[in-house]
Amino acid sequence: MHFACSFALLAAVLAAGEIVPVLRQGVVPLTSLDLQKLRQGWGSPVVDRSVEGKPLQIGGREFAWGLGSHAASVLHVRLAGGSARFSAWVGVDDETAGRGSLAFRIHGDGKLLWESGVMKGGDAARRVDLDLAGVETLLLVTTSAGDGIDYDHADWAEAAFHVSGAPPRAVDPPVEEKVLRTPPPGPAPRLNGPLAYGVRPGRPIVHRVPCTGERPIAFAAAELPASLALDPVTGILTGAAPARAGRYPVVLSATNAHGTAIRPFALVVGDELALTPPMGWNSWYVFYDHITQADMQAAADAMVASGMADFGYEYVNIDDCWMKRRDEEPYRDAEGAVLPNAKFPDMAGLAAYIHAQGLRAGLYTSPGPWTCAGYVGAFEHEEADGRRFAAWGFDFLKYDWCSYEGVATGEGRERLERPYRQMADILRGLERDLVLNLCQYGMGEVWEWGGEVGGHCWRTTGDLGNEPGGLLPGFYAIGLSNARHAEHAHPGHWNDPDYILIGWIGGPGGTHVPTTLTGEEQYSYLSMWCLMAAPLFFSGDMTKLDAFTLNVLCNAEVIEIDQDPLGRQARIVRETEEELVLAKPLHDGSLAVGLFNLSELPRAIAVDWAALGLQGPRRVRDLWRQRDLPPRDGSLPMDVPRHGVELLRLGAVE
Ligand code: GLA
Repeated sequence: MHFACSFALLAAVLAAGEIVPVLRQGVVPLTSLDLQKLRQGWGSPVVDRSVEGKPLQIGGREFAWGLGSHAASVLHVRLAGGSARFSAWVGVDDETAGRGSLAFRIHGDGKLLWESGVMKGGDAARRVDLDLAGVETLLLVTTSAGDGIDYDHADWAEAAFHVSGAPPRAVDPPVEEKVLRTPPPGPAPRLNGPLAYGVRPGRPIVHRVPCTGERPIAFAAAELPASLALDPVTGILTGAAPARAGRYPVVLSATNAHGTAIRPFALVVGDELALTPPMGWNSWYVFYDHITQADMQAAADAMVASGMADFGYEYVNIDDCWMKRRDEEPYRDAEGAVLPNAKFPDMAGLAAYIHAQGLRAGLYTSPGPWTCAGYVGAFEHEEADGRRFAAWGFDFLKYDWCSYEGVATGEGRERLERPYRQMADILRGLERDLVLNLCQYGMGEVWEWGGEVGGHCWRTTGDLGNEPGGLLPGFYAIGLSNARHAEHAHPGHWNDPDYILIGWIGGPGGTHVPTTLTGEEQYSYLSMWCLMAAPLFFSGDMTKLDAFTLNVLCNAEVIEIDQDPLGRQARIVRETEEELVLAKPLHDGSLAVGLFNLSELPRAIAVDWAALGLQGPRRVRDLWRQRDLPPRDGSLPMDVPRHGVELLRLGAVE
């Protein structure tokens, strides 16, 4: 026998001087469950009041009791077959004055039992009265109905379970086991990395040929221009680019006891750099202002030791906080070039250390007087700083707007373009190639002009690390926003949705904490970034790379999608609240397709050939598991885990 009427319910109603609702025997209000288990997009759950603490009211009708919540939300309830029914009145609370639109959904044992459809502020309450006979687990969900969660005040009025057996209990979502998808690389050599490498005439080159397989491996390069040399043991290519512009095809080979791999490679000597999206590591989200030179060197060591370099990760980039802090004068040397702070005693030595491993070095500054974290920026010293970066040996510059806002001149787009055009012109004149990463959070539709002013990649959004997660972690929203600018990406010019935050990342007070993303979410993250031809910068702790993190970061067939020489960004084929389908054309005529399940439950997702622009049968390669699936014609149906992905390559049938 279960009679439940929460103390909170009684108290709230009496205080308002209203009639106490008489709950019949066996009727358990939703609000009597442990509401700490409810995850919601804004605020906290409120008993017998709206999310803002007002009397519950939907479409002009008041309700004396129930739950005030906010989309997007999810509550897992264990029924164990003990509840016969669930009933409620649902809708947007009238406190939003007609604003907001959301949807209610109820799933039982993985099946959709009821959905409200889109409900808007002011709509009359909808009645739900569900037969739950035999249901073990119930999921109560609200969604944004596809337009963001603003004003989505979700009321579950008079919501109650009609209990005949075990009482309902709010529970944590089931713990998802992390399943390793990427098979370990085989013992035979496999050459990875870009097929083409852009460099300006005569500029220095350092490139570690990425290759998996048992070491020792003997590397060779046929038709290598005389100005370059390949170390046969390390596979590190060094020297200078030929002085004449043009395409220089090279044939790379790698041999060990298990066989030989051969791969074409071309030096493309001209004005274009970053012919494929840059890959590497950035210090920001793990070290913030705690970064030291020793940390950078440890990251370079780990890039090689972990095997990441064998998959093409090559830039080792310091973010903010390597220069002097405001009030730590002098800021500059006699030549007017910026000075590093005490944690970076030898910037040239750091770049040389990174180069010695065949990797490339990157750093950061702002066109403003101060960086975002309050360190010295390049304002009015752009030329001296740019020269110094090249003299030290750096290969990549992230140029972050920050305090430039206070000194910018000019109007409209020109005002936004000016500092980037200026730095690109300076860098172009230097004796060393520096890839230029524009960081100004997407202002003024930067994707439309970032390439034209001389940027190689440009952040399209605010910081991913600050993006609030709802039911889906923040990278989905950042990724989706970045996905909308597909037509602006092409070789040498990439949309940048920010870094890969997985593994161990920076926590409070300089601590490092493990990611809260599920395994499936992490595979989705990498898949999305690769389909979007995004720069791939890991920004977790390089010295704490566990097997799972490496499994996500290091799948040669997945990275190949990112690095495809055609350089197209995936287009959005379908975008609903539950599903996202992205498709990226590849240089060999095949198509990479990502089926993303954005919902709270496993889901079958199918995509038709018509939507993909295909005709006839296709070979299907499961890229994460690196295995062929049976060929398909007409459509591709896949079962996709919660917040997960299936990433496929559809090729011609031989
Ligand atoms: C901004 C950028 C971040 C990071 C910090 C450093 O927020 O968007 O990527 O570089 O500055 O202060």
